[in-house]
Amino acid sequence: MKGIILAGGTATRLFPLTATPSKQLLPIYDRQMIFYPLNTLIKAGIKDILIIVAPDHSGQFLNLLGSIFEKYGIRLAFKVQKIPKGLADAFILGEDFIDQDSVTMILGDNIFEDDFSEQIKNFKSGGHVFARKVPDPERSGVVQFDNQNRVIKIEEKPKKWISDYAITGLYIYDNKVVEAAKNVKPSERGEIEITSLHNYYLKLGELEVSTFEGVWLDAGTFDSLLEANKIVKEKEIYKNFDPKIDEAIKKFNEELKVITKKGLL
Ligand code: TTP
Repeated sequence: MKGIILAGGTATRLFPLTATPSKQLLPIYDRQMIFYPLNTLIKAGIKDILIIVAPDHSGQFLNLLGSIFEKYGIRLAFKVQKIPKGLADAFILGEDFIDQDSVTMILGDNIFEDDFSEQIKNFKSGGHVFARKVPDPERSGVVQFDNQNRVIKIEEKPKKWISDYAITGLYIYDNKVVEAAKNVKPSERGEIEITSLHNYYLKLGELEVSTFEGVWLDAGTFDSLLEANKIVKEKEIYKNFDPKIDEAIKKFNEELKVITKKGLL
């Protein structure tokens, strides 16, 4: 299983906070946002992770993460996405990295309270995505179930209500996803939508949709960023990290303090 974090994009809803730093490097309580999706992947035992970033931010990501996990056998690779073409682009940019394997993709601004390690470790084939009840489903890809909890349809940002279940930013797919992504046509808003990939697997009868109830945060607006900080603190989500990450952050911070002090002398 390979891992991809999609951490590019333009983050226009957070201007001017994101005029210089990447959204995914903004703080969520005591650590940068990117550590939360990294935790979801690392906790599940994924050792090869590709981080897709926007051109202006590649240096920032490399400075923070370039060598932070090397002693733990976790290999991070980086790729620049020149233009934010849509979420499905992760699998096109990641083609060589994914190679013959399956892949878990997570959005760089998504924070989950739940631990999805078992689902990631037990994944065999097809696609597996995760849905949660939300108050504003029209903002996301939405899944409609029948009364036996079978998926009827999945629609991107439906104009008419079909269900309260949003598909969240964590997706597990087998290797077919690379070719499938290449065949996705841009939507009306000009993006290659990940919903097209869910529908590809749904048509094949190979899509599993699990629901969950734990906190799901998408820190893409001023309010949701503030909310994410508050909830991570209140629910102590920052305490549930893989110990390897906590240790790596601590070491990074200590080294940074020494370098900074030396620089001031
Ligand atoms: P969005 O929040 O939909 O987009 P954005 O981050 O560019 O923000 P805004 O709408 O405010 O302009 O993206 C969800 C996540 O996916 C986020 O972490 C950025 C990432 N992303 C990419 O890396 N590449 C892309 O092509 C897109 C569309 C998103």
